[in-house]
Amino acid sequence: MICETLPLIDLHRHLDGNIRPDTIWDLAQQNGIDLPVEHFNDFIPHVRIQDKASDLMEFLVKLDWGVNVLSSLEDCKRVAFENVEDLSLAGIDYAELRFSPYYMAMKHNLPTADVVAAVIEGVKQGCEEFGVKANLIGILSRTFGLEKCQHELDSLLVHKDHLVAIDLAGDELGKPANLFEDQFKQVANAGLNVTIHAGEAAGPESVWHAIKLLKAQRIGHGVKSYEDKHLLDYLAENNITLETCLTSNYQTGTIDRISDHPIHTFLEHGVKVCLNTDDPAVEGIELKHEYTLAKQQLGLTTQQLQDIQLNALNAAFISDSEKQTLLTEKSAKI
Ligand code: HPA
Ligand code: ZN
Repeated sequence: MICETLPLIDLHRHLDGNIRPDTIWDLAQQNGIDLPVEHFNDFIPHVRIQDKASDLMEFLVKLDWGVNVLSSLEDCKRVAFENVEDLSLAGIDYAELRFSPYYMAMKHNLPTADVVAAVIEGVKQGCEEFGVKANLIGILSRTFGLEKCQHELDSLLVHKDHLVAIDLAGDELGKPANLFEDQFKQVANAGLNVTIHAGEAAGPESVWHAIKLLKAQRIGHGVKSYEDKHLLDYLAENNITLETCLTSNYQTGTIDRISDHPIHTFLEHGVKVCLNTDDPAVEGIELKHEYTLAKQQLGLTTQQLQDIQLNALNAAFISDSEKQTLLTEKSAKI
């Protein structure tokens, strides 16, 4: 399914949506945090989607135990480090790991800027240990409102030299993108790239807002873009890549079946898409599985899958020479 001579890249992957269930269990014991069950096996349904959720917000609840057990900066560093080990285990060559520092800090009142520093350190150590490349994207969790997002942004910007972009995630329906225009002006002033979750819970107008108001260069999901032909043309003409996450879209109820995903419409319109995981531990999948789904459930050809691997490389928030290095290193490994 995967072209072994091209780098395997995950551009949409939440570090705080990929905390291993056994690490959550371990941290709960270590930190004296009560869990709702006595046996590990009974815990899995609390942290992993069983088939699907009814909507995005029900899906996102499954991420809560992962962050609720983070009682110290050391815990944050540990989960960041393990996220890089997971990349290596999944055969991923390069990833952009995103995280919401306020969401990670919230339960135990950790200093948000220090959480950012701990994640940066954990990922750095992981990259050295496992020989994987990764960059970080900071998230503003819109669910918690404007004030918390400004605090989150301030904390992220302290460490802006260690980030490649800022994202807006969480409750897309309840907290539309237009509320965050001022924050994304600050992001532009800081010289960071922008990717926005849009067209997942809400419709194509949300994707327009992400692009026009927040200056998104990539769109997380963008599923509902298929409803607006003018938007499809705009995405294609402006080379705005959609970060597609098939299993996540099914599990959040954004699509009813994987085979309903509008990826063919996107490809026919010349809209660039790439394949990504979103929250692998919560979904119980890894990136190669998404390529298998694209082939087996959506009938994508080997050529289309190769193009998708290249789309991820092209859309990555790294320099042309770093892209070239990823390409040449991969072919040298064969
Ligand atoms: N959408 C919005 N916020 C999120 C998601 C998602 O799919 N995953 C983790 N946070
Ligand atoms: Zn996401």
